Amino acid sequence: MATRGQRWIADAPALVVIAAQPARTAARYGARAEAYVAMEAGAAAQNLLLKAAALGLGGTVVGALDDAALRRSLALAEAEQPLAIVPIGHRR
Ligand SMILES: Cc1cc2nc3c(=O)[nH]c(=O)nc-3n(C[C@H](O)[C@H](O)[C@H](O)COP(=O)(O)O)c2cc1C
Repeated sequence: MATRGQRWIADAPALVVIAAQPARTAARYGARAEAYVAMEAGAAAQNLLLKAAALGLGGTVVGALDDAALRRSLALAEAEQPLAIVPIGHRR
């Protein structure tokens, strides 16, 4: 399982996977790339959560991932690094 046993994630109506191509960022920003990728991923996740909240929905950030399993199930390229899943759904 790509989410390390967190089965509740499968109950969410929508899952958004945030992934990066770190080499692209590194080509432009060099040694700062790792930090920039993390900043961008966090900003993307927060924007999703803010939009979900504005729509009366809920969501959360899931970072405990099995990268290889997620890569396989989404057929991600080797250069694409999965960083987070944001499950979105109705608040309970
Ligand atoms: C980068 C990051 C990764 C996270 N990964 C997980 C995760 O894999 N599983 C999980 O249950 N919570 C994870 N959390 C915590 C949840 O996203 C959330 O912040 C926490 O459940 C508190 O939610 P609440 O403030 O709505 O109570 C992570 C938080 C961050 C910032």
